[in-house]
Amino acid sequence: MKKFVVFGNPIAHSRSPEIHRMFAQQFGEQLSYERQLSTESDFAKDVGALQQEGFIGCNVTLPFKELAFQLADEVSQRARIAGAANTLSLFRDKIVADNTDGQGLVGDLQLSVDLAAKHVLLLGAGGAARGCIYPLLQAGVEKISIWNRTREKVASLANELCAYGNVVAVSNLELAATKANIVVNSTSSSVNGSVPDIAPEVFGDAELVYDMFYQQSKTSFLEFAEKQNNEALLKDGLGMLVGQAAESYRIWHGQQPDINSVVDVLRKS
Ligand code: ATR
Repeated sequence: MKKFVVFGNPIAHSRSPEIHRMFAQQFGEQLSYERQLSTESDFAKDVGALQQEGFIGCNVTLPFKELAFQLADEVSQRARIAGAANTLSLFRDKIVADNTDGQGLVGDLQLSVDLAAKHVLLLGAGGAARGCIYPLLQAGVEKISIWNRTREKVASLANELCAYGNVVAVSNLELAATKANIVVNSTSSSVNGSVPDIAPEVFGDAELVYDMFYQQSKTSFLEFAEKQNNEALLKDGLGMLVGQAAESYRIWHGQQPDINSVVDVLRKS
C-alpha cells in the first residue's frame, strides 16, 4: 500500500489524512496516510527515515515548510518563489519539493470568479501571502496590491516578487483607494476573532472577499467585510485547504480528485 504522512507541530488537528483518504476512495484506491509530530531538530532525520522505508511522499505544515524546502534536492518554480514547500515526493535517491498552497487558493477563487485581468488586494505578508502571489499571477491576475500591518515586511515582499508581475505594496493611507476586485485575507487575524486594522472602504469594489482561515461559523474577517459590502461573495479557506491537498494528490498519484464533494463532507462534519 502507498504510504504518506503529514508533518506538523502541533499536528493533532490536521485534516489531511481524512481528505487524502476521501480522495483515494474516489478512485477505489487504498492508502496509508497518518499524522506525524516532529521537531525542527528532528525533521530532516524523520523525512530521511520515511524515504528509507519507501514512503511515497509527505505533506508539511507549520512550522516545517521552510525546512522542507531547504531539505529538497529539486524544487518546483512555485516552491522556489514561495521559499517554502508543503509537498515532498520521496524517491530512493532524491527529495522533490513543491508548494501547492497557491494552487489551492487559485482553484477555489476560480470556482467563483474569472481571475483574468483582476486586481487582487492581499492582506498580510507572511508565508501564506508569499506562497500565493506567483500562482495568482500565473492564473492571469493583472495586479496584486499587498498590505501588511508591519510596513517593512510588505515593501520587501513586493520588491522581491514584482519581478513576476504587477505586484505593489500599499500603505494604510493608500488602502481605501485600492478598488480591488478581490480581497484576500492571508493574515492570521481570524484565528483569534480579530480583524486587521484596515479602512472599511477596501471592500467597496470587491466582487469576492476571501479569508484563508476557516471555521464552522463565519470568520470575523468575513463578518466585517459583509457589513461593508453585502453584495460581495464571501468565502472562507476550506476550499483552499482541500484544493492544496488535491494538488498534492495529483502530484503523487497522477489523478485529479473532485474537491467539491470533499469540501461538502468536511463542512457538515
Ligand atoms: P502565515 O504563514 O500563516 O502567513 P506568518 O508568516 O506568521 O503566518 O504571518 C502572519 C501574518 O498575519 C503577518 O502578515 C502578520 O502581520 P505582521 O507582519 O504585522 O505581524 C499578520 N497578522 C497576524 N495577526 C494580525 C492582526 N491582528 N492584524 C493584522 N495582521 C495580522
